[in-house]
Amino acid sequence: MTTSAPAPGPLPRIVAHRGASGSAPENTLAAFRRAHALGAAAVEFDCKLSGDGRIVVHHDETLRRTARLEGRIRDWQAADLLHLDVGAWFASEFAGETIQLLRNVMVLLDELGMQANIEFKPCAGLEAETGRAIAHEIADYWPAHLPLPVVSSFSQAALAAAAEFLPAKTAKAMIWRHVPKNWAESVERLSLDAVHCLAYSLDEPTARAIVERSIPLRCFTVNDPAVAERLFDWGVSSIFTDFPERFLPPR
Ligand code: G3P
Ligand code: MG
Repeated sequence: MTTSAPAPGPLPRIVAHRGASGSAPENTLAAFRRAHALGAAAVEFDCKLSGDGRIVVHHDETLRRTARLEGRIRDWQAADLLHLDVGAWFASEFAGETIQLLRNVMVLLDELGMQANIEFKPCAGLEAETGRAIAHEIADYWPAHLPLPVVSSFSQAALAAAAEFLPAKTAKAMIWRHVPKNWAESVERLSLDAVHCLAYSLDEPTARAIVERSIPLRCFTVNDPAVAERLFDWGVSSIFTDFPERFLPPR
C-alpha cells in the first residue's frame, strides 16, 4: 500500500488527527500516546491561547463539548484550565485526562520521538497574537532531537504573524476547507511550504496542479483506507486520520 512509500515533505503519510482521536479523547496526552502505540510517527493537534496568554492544546473555543462546562478558553487562566477533565466525555476510562500546555506536549513528543503538525487554532480576534506566541514557543522550546514541526492554520493572519519568529526551516501550511482558485497566489504571498485541505472538497485537477509544483498536499480527515488510496494516487502526501490503526501496523 502507498502508506509505506516515503511522503514528500517533512511529515509521514499517516498523521494522527488530534492524536488517535478515534479511540482516545482528542488533543490529550492519552491520544498522543495511543497514536504512538498504534504505529503513527506523527500527530496533529490544535493550539490556542488561554486568558493569560499561555498556549493550551484544545480544539474548540468553548469548553462545552470536551469539559462539559460553560465558558470560553480565552476567559480562563491556564492554571485553572489545566485541572479540567477533557477525557471523561469520551469514555469513563479516560477520566482524569486534562487540558495540556503545548510545553508539556512537546516533552511527551520528545519522549516518544514523534513528529508533529501544530495547528494554530486562534480564538476569534486573537489570530496574530496566537501565531506569534506559538512561534516563540517553538523557537525557544522545541526539542532539539525532533524534526521541526509543520505549522498550519485556517488563519492567514496567524501564519503571517508567526513567520518572522519561527525557526528558519519551519514548514508552514495554509489549511483550506475548499482550496481557492487563487491558491498559488497565497502560497507565494505567505511563503507556504504545503497546502492542507478538507479531503472531501478536493478534486483531482486541483490536487495534481498543487503536486506538480512540488508542494506537499495533505488532507483531513480521512478515516477510510479506500479514500486515502485515491488521494495518494492523486499525489497527496499525507492524510490526517482519527484511526491510524486502519493504515498502519501497531508498534
Ligand atoms: O489540521 C487539520 C485539521 O485538524 C483541521 O481541522 O477542525 O480538525 O482542526 P480541525
Ligand atoms: Mg486541527
